[in-house]
Amino acid sequence: MQGAGSKIIAGVLIMASMSLVACAPPVALPAPPTAVPSAAAVEAAGEVITLPAPRLQSDVSLEEALLRRRSVRTYSDQPLTLAEIGQLLWAAQGITDERGLRTAPSAGALYPLELYVATDDGLYHYRPQGHQAEVRRVEGWREALCPAALSQGAVCQAPAVFVVTAVYARTAAKYGERAERYVRLEAGHAAQNLLLQAVALDLGAVPIGAFYDDQVQAALGLPADHQPLYLIPVGRPAR
Ligand SMILES: Cc1cc2nc3c(=O)[nH]c(=O)nc-3n(C[C@H](O)[C@H](O)[C@H](O)COP(=O)(O)O)c2cc1C
Repeated sequence: MQGAGSKIIAGVLIMASMSLVACAPPVALPAPPTAVPSAAAVEAAGEVITLPAPRLQSDVSLEEALLRRRSVRTYSDQPLTLAEIGQLLWAAQGITDERGLRTAPSAGALYPLELYVATDDGLYHYRPQGHQAEVRRVEGWREALCPAALSQGAVCQAPAVFVVTAVYARTAAKYGERAERYVRLEAGHAAQNLLLQAVALDLGAVPIGAFYDDQVQAALGLPADHQPLYLIPVGRPAR
């Protein structure tokens, strides 16, 4: 039986070979982890802020965003604004309908995804209802998240790292074993929305799948049932 570590390494090897074809920078092979870093210090209850209202118009057409989307892995030091963070969260999981339906489709409208974004100001946990975020201070998240993602430069350097997590039980309650497939498909929908929104905001982003799940959870102090599926570093592209 294949262990989690060897699955990740196999995944990195596949992605590294795909990278050669796509001329993306190679992803270095990780040394096997010796220990999961200790859980980050997280304030128990964070401040809840209402994010700036998302803009609903853009000078960038959907077609242009599709055309221009490329994985961007190097960024300037400039932080994202709160409006940009809110816009990206809204693109991924914002509520767009009085019934509570969202920007991304969801099997049975059960919405298993939980979004976070880690910045130097703290860890934001998105609350689609009211377009709000709970902000928690997490000590040393970057030092722990960077090795958790095999020290990939984008994760180590980006001013903001979005994290798509999922509570599988929400979907499994209705769909049983099929939930595993549905939840991962949904993470892809949400991630693509975020990536296209980043283009429309003149930001650069890359979806990252190569990481150690338990270490990402520990680095950010995520609840045990919020399973990380994607890391998406975002920043202003380095010129
Ligand atoms: C499921 C998935 C996992 C990925 N994981 C990584 C990753 O760990 N590191 C990375 O640098 N890029 C990762 N990528 C980005 C791909 O390398 C990238 O999409 C590919 O090279 C094509 O380039 P483009 O996105 O610019 O079109 C991932 C993409 C997908 C869809």
